[in-house]
Amino acid sequence: MLRYTLITGASSGIGLALAEAFAARGDALLLVARRADALARVAEDLQRRYDAVVELRACDLADAAQLDAFCEEIAGGAYEIGTLVNNAGFATSGAFVDNEWDDEREMIRVNITALAQLCHVVGRRMAAAGHGQILNVSSISGMMPGPWMANYAAAKAYVLSLSEGLREELAPRGVKVSVLCPGTTRSPFFERAGIDLAKLEKEALVMTPEAVARITVGALERDVAIIVPRWYNKLLAISPRLGPRWLLRKVVGSLYKGVARPAAH
Ligand SMILES: NC(=O)c1ccc[n+]([C@@H]2O[C@H](COP(=O)([O-])OP(=O)(O)OC[C@H]3O[C@@H](n4cnc5c(N)ncnc54)[C@H](OP(=O)(O)O)[C@@H]3O)[C@@H](O)[C@H]2O)c1
Repeated sequence: MLRYTLITGASSGIGLALAEAFAARGDALLLVARRADALARVAEDLQRRYDAVVELRACDLADAAQLDAFCEEIAGGAYEIGTLVNNAGFATSGAFVDNEWDDEREMIRVNITALAQLCHVVGRRMAAAGHGQILNVSSISGMMPGPWMANYAAAKAYVLSLSEGLREELAPRGVKVSVLCPGTTRSPFFERAGIDLAKLEKEALVMTPEAVARITVGALERDVAIIVPRWYNKLLAISPRLGPRWLLRKVVGSLYKGVARPAAH
């Protein structure tokens, strides 16, 4: 049976670049996102350029019924998964209480619930087989409080903590777990979050998804626990340890407030 690399959120940005990097390595891919047409274009391109085996699964990970159905297929052995990449995610920005609860809840469902459920179902099968690798995508934002992106930063802190916990639990059972914490990366992410990337670019160094993917695949081969691409993001990652917490909240808050979606009312 073919062993797949399952990548969620493979229709654009970092997930798409990771799909290409894994295809270049010769992996068979199982790509997941909501937009079937975008996934089909990705598959066609990877088949043509890398002769890759690509399976597609259109699934809204925020929809509990669709997520459950997909997880049941995996639990039933429909696919053997050698590598799981939990990349799908999006951000809400602006003041939490002014945003619509439906949007904040959808963010929790995609960034937390779906990621945890896939770690559970796939991780259990990997542990039974005695091998496998899981990569969860967090963010530099998950390493610090994030006023004006409070729920997103909290969700990414969850991803970081879950991944580190699972790494220790699953290592003796032959399963490697890593977490990717990218800094600002050029992708459609910012448009969906209502963030003006042009403003952020003045203040931060921006990576391409392809550079993030290249560094990540290399780091996975070395089983790096927490992958932070590029030195300037590594500096940001240690910044919470350099000063008092109140100062960190003020600095991050003023950065995010300047770029976040303005309040609707
Ligand atoms: N860009 C950055 O600066 C940055 C920095 C740190 C961390 N990250 C993280 O990196 C990951 C990828 O983000 P990106 O920058 O590549 O953004 P992106 O280009 O907007 O990609 C997000 C992906 O997630 C999928 N997705 C979103 N909602 C979904 C849902 N309900 N069900 C299934 N798939 C869904 C999207 O596909 P469909 O729209 O087709 O469903 C898309 O493929 C995210 O977890 C993000 O939080 C990004």
